[in-house]
Amino acid sequence: MNASASSWSPRSWREFPAGQQPDWPDEGAFEAVLKQMSTMPPLVFAGEARALTQTLGQVAEGEAFLLQAGDCAESFDAFGADAIRDKLKVILQMAVVLTYSSGVPTVKVGRIAGQFAKPRSSPTETIGELTLPSFRGHLVNDIMPTAAARVPDPNRLLQAYHQSTSTLNLLRAFTKGGYADLHQVHTWNQEFVASSNEGQRYERVADEIDRALRFMKACGVDTATQPNLHEVDFYTSHEALVLGYEEALTRQDSLTGDWYDCSAHMIWIGERTREIDGAHIEFFSGVRNPIGCKLGPTATAEEAVELCERLNPERIPGRLTFITRMGADKVEAALPALLAGVRDAGHPVVWACDPMHGNTITATGGQKTRRFDDILAEIAGFFSAHDAEGTWPGGVHVELTGDDVTECLGGAEAILDADLGSRYETMCDPRLNGRQSIDLAFAVAELLRD
Ligand code: PEP
Ligand code: CO
Repeated sequence: MNASASSWSPRSWREFPAGQQPDWPDEGAFEAVLKQMSTMPPLVFAGEARALTQTLGQVAEGEAFLLQAGDCAESFDAFGADAIRDKLKVILQMAVVLTYSSGVPTVKVGRIAGQFAKPRSSPTETIGELTLPSFRGHLVNDIMPTAAARVPDPNRLLQAYHQSTSTLNLLRAFTKGGYADLHQVHTWNQEFVASSNEGQRYERVADEIDRALRFMKACGVDTATQPNLHEVDFYTSHEALVLGYEEALTRQDSLTGDWYDCSAHMIWIGERTREIDGAHIEFFSGVRNPIGCKLGPTATAEEAVELCERLNPERIPGRLTFITRMGADKVEAALPALLAGVRDAGHPVVWACDPMHGNTITATGGQKTRRFDDILAEIAGFFSAHDAEGTWPGGVHVELTGDDVTECLGGAEAILDADLGSRYETMCDPRLNGRQSIDLAFAVAELLRD
């Protein structure tokens, strides 16, 4: 795929400096787990990843919109069918609103079934008197504030693999078994609109969707018997941070001979591990999945173009998604140069807005939080930058849960600083709760219509 392609292999990343890798206490035990995992069935198939690349290619061309959403960090403890169902439900509800208002299909990609590893800004954290190794996600260690819990344990890779398989199995059942029926999802949205004062602001959009559905029905289109209205394609993604885990799940496709990281349909590189000469870029350059790369406010247009050359030299639309996470106060100054640089270099990319990671603040009570209004403001800035540069604002990437948590401030329910303590459950970053997420989709719908 590139100049160094002849020397690429699933393990060639080991020759490059790799940031954010755990210090496994016993390298032999870690390698033994990787060996075991490398014989296990893939979670996804190459053909599915290819289908997602093609669909994202439509996003790159301005003919579809991407909704990528889910947990900041999935948990081994909060693992159950209800939580998976409720997260999917919220994403489906958001997608219907976005599809209606953008007038193009919404590509649905979860941060789910593999989102278990977290990059950290410091290798240690101090809790009270104790300085401990940082929590790096359930793929690596446990969040309990004891020295023993924080020791990286390679057996967690196997647990993450198994949890991902069951999660994916349930998602496949829900999305192909009638749960995603358009009529049903719309009914949930109507319930949202009817059940809160803020929601009533969105009555007009909900009524318009309702009329469109009634019109379709009158024309003889029945959602229950139309596969494309009764089922949806739902894809999985995560930050491919711990490269041993990704290497062990990388397989050569028997049809094409290409390599795919079969841990998820799409994988992305975080803001902290996107050095052009680093191990993550090396690994990602050789797998054929659709891939993402975060870009923060310090990224330059030259860096962005260099990433395009290295990660998508064949300029395949849908192969590369740039997920920008600038912060509401920086997006309008920082984003246009990146859009113009990549556009002028002729590289097809999907541009998605992550309005979460540039807008994290500390609440009075000490919790990490985000304001709903900042999140919406970054999305608005993202749209106006694209408008100015003549590029397509291809999608949004958000951290959410279907649960009724109190982690982000504001939104339909007006969660206040003082409310954060009541149901603050995230293991890492603050997530939008179910109602805040749907509220966001309706608010974005209003932006799209303007
Ligand atoms: C994340 O997506 O959870 C994350 C850590 O983001 P970033 O790499 O943009 O900081
Ligand atoms: Co996060």
